[in-house]
This record gives sequence, structure tokens and C-alpha cells, in this order.
Amino acid sequence: MKPEIAKAAQILRAGGLVAFPTETVYGLGADASSAQAVARLYAVKRRPAGHPVIVHFDGAERAFTWARDVPAAARTLAQRFWPGPLTLVLKRSALAQDFITGGQDNVGVRVPAHPVAHELLAAFGGGIAAPSANRFGLVSPTTAAHVRADLGADVDLVLEGGPSEVGIESTILDLSGAKPVVLRPGRITAVEIEAALGEALAEKPSDAPRHSGGLERHYAPRTPVRLVPGYQLDREIARLKEKLAVLAFSRPDERVEYWLRMPRDPQAYAHKLYAALRELDSAACEAILIEAPPPVPEWAAVLDRLRRACG
Ligand code: TXA
Ligand code: MG
Repeated sequence: MKPEIAKAAQILRAGGLVAFPTETVYGLGADASSAQAVARLYAVKRRPAGHPVIVHFDGAERAFTWARDVPAAARTLAQRFWPGPLTLVLKRSALAQDFITGGQDNVGVRVPAHPVAHELLAAFGGGIAAPSANRFGLVSPTTAAHVRADLGADVDLVLEGGPSEVGIESTILDLSGAKPVVLRPGRITAVEIEAALGEALAEKPSDAPRHSGGLERHYAPRTPVRLVPGYQLDREIARLKEKLAVLAFSRPDERVEYWLRMPRDPQAYAHKLYAALRELDSAACEAILIEAPPPVPEWAAVLDRLRRACG
């Protein structure tokens, strides 16, 4: 075992916090069976109590011991998509205590695909509770440098693993009810899940389990953000008097102070998104203007994050 991984597992066992790379975003990890460790995790994140946190595992077998009821759909999806950017919400077993589930009767479990995450999870040998490794409400980190900038000395160790490949948080699928429901869109789309299950997904009900990704103004930069359709971009740039930072598909416009051009492929876009938002946020502009991607299913996950960035 690599010394860095052994040290990280040791810190977790002692109740400490380890930030680690996953293929979606960097996570801030704590021993998911320790109330004290998870309390410290919440304090460092400045996350309000009562929000459930995803528990990560090195494989489906271990993950499913945290559920008391594992429907056939969960096994099918685990086969198809794990390790990978999919979180399954299942009815909890006694291992998932109230401080993990926010007192709800279900638990979110995931087997991440990043090799460093996998090594850490295997070395630790249990569940690691890990929200994104940023302060509550800010843009998720996709590099170790982002984590250090956000959390500094509040985290005991940051494992390095390069830029996160997916770049946005995992798809969350609730399998605890009568029909599967997507609670948070991600790289794995509703269409792919429906194809794997051979069953249609239900619409998200208004009484869906509480999840912080469902709060208004989440994943937000500090600079005010506005989302505008492509055909209005030029007009908005001409109309607005503020010093602007723009995120767009098109070529830079010389009237604009700071311009970042984004790829037209949704996965390539997601990969760059959070680093781009951080860069625009630190450009000392008065407003961020984002050219909206088309409102079609392939862009659902990116659009969801962009809408939240606007609040
Ligand atoms: O990609 C990801 O999922 C990343 C990496 C680190 O794995 N983690 C992540 O965690 O995004 P976090 O805490 O920033 O967002 C997790 C979301 C929150 O909205 C949380 O409330 C929701 O998942 N969640 C966790 N457990 C849940 C449960 N039992 N029922 C409903 N929502 C749950
Ligand atoms: Mg988060």
C-alpha cells in the first residue's frame, strides 16, 4: 500500500478528515460510522445539521450492507454503473445512523471510480461519508488546489488525484419509493438509467427526500450570475453597464472584460465548468453572464448546475 493511502486511512480511523479525489468532484471524507468524525465534517463544511451525506464504498457488496432492502433495480444499476458517478438512495440498515441520514429512513450510497478513492476506501475498509470538499453553498472543487483554497488547514490531509474527470456531482437516484426518481441529474442520464432498468422513471415529487442540492442558490459563485439564451447574449452585453465576465460557446467579444469559451459537448463542458466558474469569480468583475446551453436532455445536468449558480 502507498504510504500516503495508509496515512489517510489512519487519519480516518482516528476521527480525522481526509479530502480525496473522485471522478465527479473532490470529497471531504470522514468515518461514516463515527458520530464525532461526522460532526467535525459538518462543522468544517459549515453545513446545517439535518442534511444527509453520501456514504462511499470500495464495492457494491459493502455498500449494500448499509441498506436493509436492496431492490433488483439497485443490483442491476450497480452492475451497470459502479464504480461510477451514480448515488443510490436505499432504505437504510442499522449501519446508517441518524447523523448520516439526517434522521431519514434512507441512505445514499456510492462506489466511486477514481483509483485513489478506491485505494483509500479499500484501505479504510468501511464507509466514508463524503460531501463535496467545499464550504456549504459554494462551487464544488475539482482539483486538490481548489480544496486547499476552500478548506485550508481545516482538513487533515488532501490526497492529490488530478482534475476530476466528470467535473459535476454524481447522479442521485432514489430507489426507496414505489418508482425510481432522479433527485439530482448528473453524467449518468435518466435515459441511460431507464434503458438499464427497462422501466420509466417517475417525476421528482415535491416531497422528495431532503437534499441540499435541492436548495435554492447552491453551487454558487460570489459574483452575481445570469443565464441568458445565446440569441440574447449580444444584446445583454450591449445593454449591461457592469464590468462583465462571460462564459460562452462563441468567440470573445472585445467589449467584455473577461471571456471564457466553453466546448459544445456537454461532458467536456461539465468537466470544465466548476474551474471556469471559479476563474470567472476571481476575475474581479461585477457580474457573470453565461450563455445558456440548449434545453435538451443531454444538457440537463449542466443546466441544473448553471441554474443553481444563478440562485
Ligand atoms: O459526486 C458526488 O456525489 C460527490 C462526491 C464527493 O462523491 N458528493 C457530493 O456530496 O456531491 P454532497 O454532500 O455535496 O451532495 C450530496 C447530495 C446532497 O444534496 C445530499 O443532501 C444528498 O446528496 N443526499 C445524501 N444522502 C441522501 C439521502 N439519503 N436522501 C436524499 N438525498 C441524499
Ligand atoms: Mg456539495
